[in-house]
Amino acid sequence: MTIAHHLREKLLSALTGLGVEVPVPDRVQVTKAADLRFGDFQSNVAMILAKGLGRNPRELAADLQAAIDTDGLCDLSIAGPGFLNFTLTDHAWADLARSQWESENLGITPVTEPRTIVIDFSAPNVAKPMHIGHIRSTIIGECLARVAAKVGHRVIKDNHIGDWGTQFGMVTWAWKQGVDRNRLEGEPLQELLRLYRTASDASKENEEIREECRAELVKLQQGDGENLAIWNECLELSKKGLEKIYRRLDVRFDHWMGESAYNDALAPLVERLEAEGLARESDGAVCIFSGETDVPKNDPFKINRDGEWQDYPMIVRKNDGGFNYATTDLATVEYRVREWKADEVWYVVDFRQGGHFAQLFDTSKRMGYRDVDLVHVSFGTILGKDGKPLKTRAGDLPQLEDVLNDAVKAAREVVEEKSHLETLAEKAELAELIGVNSVKFTELSHHRMSDYVFDLEKMVALEGDTAPYLLYSYVRSRSIFRKLGESVSLRGESLKVSENSEVHLVRMLTRYSDQVHQVLEDYRPNLLATYLLEVARAFHSFFEACPVLKSEGETRESRLILCDLTSRVLQDGLALLAIPVPERM
Ligand code: ARG
Repeated sequence: MTIAHHLREKLLSALTGLGVEVPVPDRVQVTKAADLRFGDFQSNVAMILAKGLGRNPRELAADLQAAIDTDGLCDLSIAGPGFLNFTLTDHAWADLARSQWESENLGITPVTEPRTIVIDFSAPNVAKPMHIGHIRSTIIGECLARVAAKVGHRVIKDNHIGDWGTQFGMVTWAWKQGVDRNRLEGEPLQELLRLYRTASDASKENEEIREECRAELVKLQQGDGENLAIWNECLELSKKGLEKIYRRLDVRFDHWMGESAYNDALAPLVERLEAEGLARESDGAVCIFSGETDVPKNDPFKINRDGEWQDYPMIVRKNDGGFNYATTDLATVEYRVREWKADEVWYVVDFRQGGHFAQLFDTSKRMGYRDVDLVHVSFGTILGKDGKPLKTRAGDLPQLEDVLNDAVKAAREVVEEKSHLETLAEKAELAELIGVNSVKFTELSHHRMSDYVFDLEKMVALEGDTAPYLLYSYVRSRSIFRKLGESVSLRGESLKVSENSEVHLVRMLTRYSDQVHQVLEDYRPNLLATYLLEVARAFHSFFEACPVLKSEGETRESRLILCDLTSRVLQDGLALLAIPVPERM
């Protein structure tokens, strides 16, 4: 139980003791204080209840102040129109920190009802290398998966790659025009990209070629042997290339159930939709129309054209008989519920696909998948310094691998300048770690819905809200133990806090469990990222204000425990962001 919960219980029993009836217990809350000058926690319960009781809120607060049994845990005061403020005693803070330090999982409370959560993330369209846009889904998805698993959910990570779409028609067409076998061996992804671009450029100007590409896709989808062989080869090569980047990013999947895995399910699915009256033919295609259960404004199957609401159906079979992205996604919901018993599916996908997911979720409900919570965890765009979506000089989206390499190069300069490491190999390893993880941390420290400017120099800097700053904080909190050698043994009883900076550090550290849980409330890793920065800042203030090695006896031991706890929270929290820590920098 967190301290806020504990105080809330005390408050509820005080209310009972005063004979005050609480109509809606959920409205009795104790939260972190908005302003630390007034206390550590606060409650507005007196203001909420006073009106119904016909009483003055400050008087009610005063009654509560007298009635609450604080157990010596905190001092109470009243502020403003009737806020009840709780200021924890130094003793209480020390106890909290001690039990966190003694707990193996740093006091993270597990969820009471674990759910089976499928996380659908990364999911690039293969046969093309990953570009910068893929970083968002990949990194946010990995972090959410780690956090959900940490609090006790059963997590299934699925990479729903686009391995069956139009791009394969194009690659196959260009392949047949002439694939460079040598290059395919050496740099497979670059050769595949070249093929894709060849077809894409050629078909832009030429309707006939566009048709030929489509025909190659249809042949593939009908099971043509030659095209299937080409497809297989492309797929294997692409996957190898992707694996390499995922390894570098420390991202792993439980499954790679790409679009092609659902091929056989599509025809029966559409038959079922038609038989159940959910889908019907329209202009030669099979479509799902609105269920007409909401006003058009909130109806994903309606679109406003020139001031008029028109149908905007979801197409599940095109007029050429082919199935599409939407059909596959419906089959995927079916599969995940049936085979994996999913209670929830989180789709970590660009906000531009919001319309698609709204239609998908609505249709799934109408098909009877009512017990599974389907969530679109959407995100915004990465911008260049000019404020426009990030592009290379040639106007393409930068390839993810190039971006990572550039980040490592930038990190290398910082390492050259600042690092105490001696050997070239150590420095190179550190630069790789800093470069890659700076890109990841930058991603995770922004609100997922906001666009952000991609600025390599800023993200690898040692000062600022950056990964290197956090990594350095970790190293600093450990360095003291290296100086001491193996011989320290620490006892929890020694933990005492009295200096302001000690209290503040403990206040931050003991919030860890709450902060981890909060990430899942609205799928926001940035809450954890910002929290870790606050921990790091609190640690540096403490470290500057309170001598550790130069202090003596219990004070020294107590401060060593604070260093140890800080390093553990930082390491554990960073691991949830999929960021490993170095031992030296
Ligand atoms: N491959 C898709 C794209 O690149 C993303 C797939 C997301 N997942 C899903 N189940 N639709 O746009």
